[in-house]
Parts: sequence; C-alpha cells; structure tokens
Amino acid sequence: MIRLRKIDHVCLNVADVADATRRYGLQFGLTVRSETPERATLACDYEPYSLELVHTDSAAAVGYAHCAWQLRRSVSIDQARAHLAAVGADWSDAGTHLVVTDPEGFEHHLLPFAAEADTRPAIARQTTELNGLRPRKLGHINRLTADMAAATAFYTDVLGMQIADWLGDAGTWFHCNPEHHQMALVDVGRAHFHHLAFDYYDWGTLRSLFDNLAQHGRWLSWGPVRHGIAQNICGYARITEEPLMVECYVDMEILEYEHEPRQWPDDRFSSNTWGPLPPRSYFRFDPAAIESERASNETRGIPLPPL
Ligand SMILES: [Fe+2]
Repeated sequence: MIRLRKIDHVCLNVADVADATRRYGLQFGLTVRSETPERATLACDYEPYSLELVHTDSAAAVGYAHCAWQLRRSVSIDQARAHLAAVGADWSDAGTHLVVTDPEGFEHHLLPFAAEADTRPAIARQTTELNGLRPRKLGHINRLTADMAAATAFYTDVLGMQIADWLGDAGTWFHCNPEHHQMALVDVGRAHFHHLAFDYYDWGTLRSLFDNLAQHGRWLSWGPVRHGIAQNICGYARITEEPLMVECYVDMEILEYEHEPRQWPDDRFSSNTWGPLPPRSYFRFDPAAIESERASNETRGIPLPPL
C-alpha cells in the first residue's frame, strides 16, 4: 500500500489561459507564478503552485484535466510504481511522475515527496509578491460519480486514501492526512468534476472573499453553509467558464489518529447545520441549471427542468 502526503495541485483545461489566469488571480487571490499562452501556474501561498491552467481548443475538454498528489516522505516513486503494477491500475509512467486514471476516467498524478525549502509556517515568512487576500492552501477536490463502489475502491486501494465519513449511500469522504478530507465523492448517477476547494483561514477572510466575488459578478451556488460532515464553513462559487465550482472554506475538522469513519444520516442537518440543502442546480453544469441559479428560480418555486 502507498500513502499520500497531500494534494499538490489541480490542473484545468481552459479556453483562454490569459483570461483564466486573470480571473483566478483577481477573484480568488491566487498569485501567478508563470504564464505563457499555453500554460500558467498559480499559487495560494508559498508553495510552488496549486493551480495549473492549460490551453485547449476543444470546448468538450474545458474543465478538469488532472489532480496531482504528493507521496509521503516514506514512500518512494519506485514503491508507487510497484504498487500501481501490483494492483492492476490503469496507469502509465511519465518518468518524473506517474499517471493513473480512475474507473470513470478522471486522471491523477503521483509526484515524489518534495521537501519545502523553508518549512516555517507562512506567517513567519517574508514575501514581496503574494496577495493580501489569499487562500492558505488548496484543500481538496470533490467529484460526482455514478459508481460509488468502484470509485471508492480506487481511492482506497489504488491511491491509498482512508475513509473519513459516509453520508448514507450518497457520499464518501477520503483523507490522506489529518484534515477531514482531501477527496470526496457524491453519487448522483452521473460522473462529473464538482469542485476544488481553497482554505481561507477564517470567517473574516471568507466575508472579504465573498464580497470580492460578488463585485466580480459571481454568485454562490450554495452557502454560506456549516457542514455537519467535515465541520467546514464554506460557500460554493459557480464558475461558468470552466464547468465546476470553487469551494472557499474555513474551519475544517481535524481528525484524531486512527480515526474511525462515521456513518451519517443523509439528512439536511448532516449537510448544513445552519440551514437549507443546495438547489438541485448545484449538482449540474448545463446551461439550464446555470440560468435557473442565476435567477434563483428554485427558491422562487420554479423547479429545475430534468436533464
Ligand atoms: Fe468540498
């Protein structure tokens, strides 16, 4: 079995790298590390980068490209090679990293452990380039699935993650370090990337961030909410340019050593102790769902037409 240290970065295919780089920088507070018309990298904090943007000419390819995970200090890339071969994963060797695809076609990269040059906490370091309002890290990804059993087997047996919690039969959360989750699956009968999530320190930072998003024309598909599962306070910003959400969160639960997964009832309180479940549009990325959400139609009593 291999073990992961952390989520390293998410890569998105975008139609226009310059436009996407500007958006994620201005709106979410990311700092541009490198940029060409073909590829850009952006950082939350002192890390090399957490978001990679790659140009595509294919409208169908816009959105999730891959998620990269860093192996723990104690797990070599050779051990990861041997593990992927032993478990019969759908994988290939890119030399510097390993590429592995989950049962519903979502690509993941395994990177060797990379020690930070300066391991002091961010508040003890000095910068001339990081933004004032910024996330401290990329925290997790979440995707929709049509096959919970197969997807769960992949994230536990192939990537070596551990289960944090279950929400009835509808949701499974996975962790590789003490924070509640770095990966999550929600079964809605369809596979689609749902969100990447940035950690913004505290409630005051989220207030400034959500005001900033609103002034840039964005809205929260759902939130602010207090999740029962995982404990985080968050809002889900609708990204129409790439079909996904960006979750902005704070105050996620820290798990104890040898955490035992809990079975949560699939009810409103498990999802949001503060209030409502999301509109059904939250699980969709088609134009009808986006328009319904823009006009707040579900809240006004106008149901979302079926897909
Ligand atoms: Fe999330």
